[in-house]
Amino acid sequence: MKADPAPQPSILILASGSGSNLQALIDASRERDFPGKIVAVGCNRPQAFALERAAQANIETFVVDHTKHQSREEFDGALMAEILRHNPDLIVLAGFMRILTTDFVRAFRGKLLNVHPSLLPKYTGLNTHQRALDAGEAIHGTSIHFVTEELDGGPVIAQAEVQVLPEDTAESLEERVQAREHVLYPIVIRWFCEGRIQLGSDFAMFDGELLKSPMRLPDN
Ligand code: GRF
Repeated sequence: MKADPAPQPSILILASGSGSNLQALIDASRERDFPGKIVAVGCNRPQAFALERAAQANIETFVVDHTKHQSREEFDGALMAEILRHNPDLIVLAGFMRILTTDFVRAFRGKLLNVHPSLLPKYTGLNTHQRALDAGEAIHGTSIHFVTEELDGGPVIAQAEVQVLPEDTAESLEERVQAREHVLYPIVIRWFCEGRIQLGSDFAMFDGELLKSPMRLPDN
């Protein structure tokens, strides 16, 4: 008798807006050898286009509307309850625009990934593209990192670079950065599902080795 194949790691994705990163992950998950399964998509905004993308792909969705909750703690509690219902192996923040409480982040330590549109540790927070332009950066980009208590400060796993052009605006730069996110995020999620990346005490681990500096994809 043939043994049942090992179950694939389950992935839950949280988004707030357009969901172009979500779409890239849905597309990647349709590849035959993709090592994980997207089990649900959650949003904090009922109008988020990300919800439509998920529905189109027949993925279960849920909404926890932050405007309906009195405090960050209450919102995070409701979000946590929804997530625990699915008990995912990995939670992917894909343009999820809410700051998570320490309790939430600790509860899912090592299972929570985020994409941030800068070459961290540069430009944590918002308006990263304009700030990179204002600073005269020649190279900008995006980072995929483990989420820890420090906002945009968890160990970075991989980064993709984008060359800044003289004629760039924040919008044109954002467009090229997002195109790179759509390539990089599925790669990192594959690694996670294959058990190749873990969160160590201060660093990410890749294939059992400390990742002292993030893997870098140069601009192409
Ligand atoms: C991405 O650029 C990501 O870096 C940032 O928010 C944006 C989300 O875009 N955190 P989308 O909703 O995936 O299109």
